[in-house]
Amino acid sequence: MHELHPDCQSMLLSEERIRERVTEVARRVNADLAGKRPIAVGILKGSIIFYADFIRCLDMPLELDFMAVSSYGSGSTSSGKLRIKKDLDSNISGRDVIVIEDIIDSGFTLACLKKLLLERGASSVTIVTLLDKHERRTEDIAPDYNCFEIPDEFVVGYGLDYDEKYRSLPYIGILKRSVYEK
Ligand code: IMP
Ligand code: MG
Repeated sequence: MHELHPDCQSMLLSEERIRERVTEVARRVNADLAGKRPIAVGILKGSIIFYADFIRCLDMPLELDFMAVSSYGSGSTSSGKLRIKKDLDSNISGRDVIVIEDIIDSGFTLACLKKLLLERGASSVTIVTLLDKHERRTEDIAPDYNCFEIPDEFVVGYGLDYDEKYRSLPYIGILKRSVYEK
């Protein structure tokens, strides 16, 4: 087992637990979206590792695309503003879109994104999240598929960062408060 990073207070989800659950959720998506040819939209950068693992479990023809948006900056609470830093390459009009995101917190990011993708003419928008911090939701939105509900703690690893660090940890750990409160 990978040693816990010294900036983490504990491991929340091990590599193995993540792998099992991601496979299980993908199996449900395979059944529910059978026969479709969706565009899988990864939200950069936090979702990249989840995205790579998840799409390899999907057994339908897929096109891949990415967006980068920000609502956080380098702090640990939402600033309440969505900015598109990198837009899609594809025309999504008339297409089924699967949005793959690392974490839903207030729900602001995904609520704005879903609205935008539907305004651009997507015929459906399915939201898949790795993590859901349900207690912190302020927007009226829920992922269609979520892998893990987690407590209101700041987590890093498996793609998630604090100030661009910790993304390559293979597990998800709870960041020590002393790291972001100093
Ligand atoms: P929302 O718009 O409040 O739902 O925030 C979603 C975004 O906040 C995610 O895409 C993450 O980038 C970031 N975020 C929220 N909580 C965490 C966390 O615990 N660790 C790392 N990033 C987080
Ligand atoms: Mg982030």
